[in-house]
Amino acid sequence: MADKPAPVVITARAGQPRTPAVEISPREIGLLVDRFYSEIRAHPRLGPLFEDRLAGKWDVHLDRMNRFWRSVLLHSGEYSGQPVVKHNGLPDLEEDDFRLWLELFEATTATLFAPPTAGPIVVIARRIARSLWLARFGTPFSQTPAWLA
Ligand code: HEM
Repeated sequence: MADKPAPVVITARAGQPRTPAVEISPREIGLLVDRFYSEIRAHPRLGPLFEDRLAGKWDVHLDRMNRFWRSVLLHSGEYSGQPVVKHNGLPDLEEDDFRLWLELFEATTATLFAPPTAGPIVVIARRIARSLWLARFGTPFSQTPAWLA
């Protein structure tokens, strides 16, 4: 019998060159994470998807998401985790939820940052969203929706 494939682990390695991907400070990333997840929690469709997993554990999640975004945007090397496994394990997640997530993320970054900062953050978020969407909903025959392009 074939071995089960090992789960994909995303690790931002310490020791890599640390040129930031975007001109943003850790404090600004903190603002983005706080604001975005308070919008998420108030969202009629997305709120419950998060609450089902994170009730009583929001502090841990927000800390993890700060480390995630600092690793992605500043190459800080602080995040290690299994986002694909985590998202594939959300039973009620639907394809269109990623569109709602991106809409909210784009609106939040636009209220906090000027276009030269907000633009690249959204491009990076969309790229990650696309890979999570493909891992969950993609088949050899499916096309990604236009809003993920
Ligand atoms: C509809 C879209 C999404 C939903 C409903 C969703 C929901 C969730 C939930 C409930 C968790 C916590 C899982 C757990 O701890 O058991 C989580 C974790 C996470 N999410 Fe999402 N998410 C979405 C999209 C995204 C996108 C687009 C990104 C990145 C740009 C992202 C990045 C992450 C990361 C990094 C974690 C932490 C994984 C870990 O290391 O444990 N998510 N998400």
